[in-house]
Amino acid sequence: MTSPKAELVGTGSYLPERVMTNADFEAMLDTSDQWIRERTGIRERRVASDKETVAWMAKEATQSVMKDAGITADDIEVIILATASPDRYLPSTACDLQAELGAKNARAFDLGAACSGFIYGLTVAEGMIAAGQAENILVVGGERLTRIIDYTDRTTCILFGDGAGATLVRPADNGSERGILSSYLRSDGSLAELLYRPGGGGNMPPSQQLIDEHAYYIRMAGREVFKAAVRSMADACIQAIERAGLTPDDIDVLIPHQANVRIMEATAKRAGVSMDKVFVNVDRYGNTSAASIPIALDEAVRAGRVKEGSIVLMVAFGGGFTWASLVLRW
Ligand code: UT7
Repeated sequence: MTSPKAELVGTGSYLPERVMTNADFEAMLDTSDQWIRERTGIRERRVASDKETVAWMAKEATQSVMKDAGITADDIEVIILATASPDRYLPSTACDLQAELGAKNARAFDLGAACSGFIYGLTVAEGMIAAGQAENILVVGGERLTRIIDYTDRTTCILFGDGAGATLVRPADNGSERGILSSYLRSDGSLAELLYRPGGGGNMPPSQQLIDEHAYYIRMAGREVFKAAVRSMADACIQAIERAGLTPDDIDVLIPHQANVRIMEATAKRAGVSMDKVFVNVDRYGNTSAASIPIALDEAVRAGRVKEGSIVLMVAFGGGFTWASLVLRW
């Protein structure tokens, strides 16, 4: 007997109400709307309020997933929450989400793979389904990055935003063409310090020094990350397409991690996918790390860009370094 294929059913997303524009940064820092738009494609991003925690935003995103899939919180068996900005270190934000949802039959855990976390999460869910461990697996990407960025560092603070996106992974019906066709996951921990947070964990617990050195915040060597992101994401696209037995022409929609429109353009070009197939919303939300792909997927589905039978390629790159890709038929 072959293991069942895993399919995605339902999408949802939540973006905080407060909008922060490039003009807001012009008032704070030596930067300009023109520089930010030309170098990144970002026009504005969302900033979460105290109420809009990662768990709360994830709960909001999950409401439309449950509606689309025709399930209630009681039906959720597993919650995988990908995040690089958990609400607190203990317990996991996934357990806080479980409590927010009242999903009393679930087991919940966070997944740490930075911007690649959502694709890693889908792959873990696919494996649990193949192993017969669960049938309704909620996979969420949620971030409140604006709490861990340094608003005095113009090279990073203009890039990031907050939000959450979600989907449900389920066994596909026997003989159904829908579902995950291939995936490809990689990491290289030797490059960790090109994109990381030095302090706040056990290596550098809270102290005056941590505050003085802004060591609690994200640090990034932008140019190096840019080059590695293009190289790795293009390769990951090619790998996932090949593993699915497809060619770049077969891809209907490419949903890349939304970090920088120039990275998306270069990735698509190298992977042989034309830019008109690429879904872009980085202009409105900036880089929301693990949340960026599920938010984009939700918008692409609701806009009719992804429809029944569409071949979708997702690809991501982020801290770790981690990178990942996945092909599915919607
Ligand atoms: O989600 C995880 C993955 N993360 C990413 O994929 C981000 C990858 N990196 C990037 O997107 C880009 O590298 C950045 C947008 C961060 C930077 O763009 P860049 O074209 O690589 O610029 P750069 O770092 O080479 O800097 C060019 C110049 C520098 O000035 P000098 O040294 O040439 O005088 C920077 O100091 O631009 C300056 N600069 C700025 N100027 C105005 C850097 N940030 C700003 C700013 N406003 N906000």
